[in-house]
Amino acid sequence: MDRTLVICKPDAVERGLVGEILGRFERKGLRLAAVELRALDSDLLARHYSEHVGKPFYHDLVAFMSRSPALVAVVEGPEDTWRVVRAMMGATNPMKADPGTIRGDLGTEVTENLVHGSDSADSAQREIGLFFPDL
Ligand code: RTP
Ligand code: MG
Repeated sequence: MDRTLVICKPDAVERGLVGEILGRFERKGLRLAAVELRALDSDLLARHYSEHVGKPFYHDLVAFMSRSPALVAVVEGPEDTWRVVRAMMGATNPMKADPGTIRGDLGTEVTENLVHGSDSADSAQREIGLFFPDL
């Protein structure tokens, strides 16, 4: 099996959209290998989003991601699961995301875009290790 990290971001939890989002992955045929509701602190977020530290939007990103609990999950499928999940998420800016994608159907704001998915096989391995070191 091939695994990737998914985060239903605080806006998704606050809006009651966790079932909708995880349900899409389940209906696709992907499976949940781990799920936890967790408050993400700035240290963990700096490691998770290390590529973005120092960028203009970084402060807003951390403030958003730490304002209330997020649902962190490991999702698994037959192959290239990270790529399947990214396709189902849609573009980073929900206003530009295709209809039928999670962000395209459910969001309007670039920071509050509902869901995170690892962007490569290497990122998936790194992020799973960061959030679920015992898995
Ligand atoms: P993610 O890492 O959360 O799955 O999102 P992504 O790959 O689609 O986008 P990325 O470029 O990695 O950006 C990470 C998150 O930072 C926020 N962002 N805000 N205001 C802005 O210009 C801006 N750009 C990015 C979003 O929450 C984005 O998902
Ligand atoms: Mg990213």
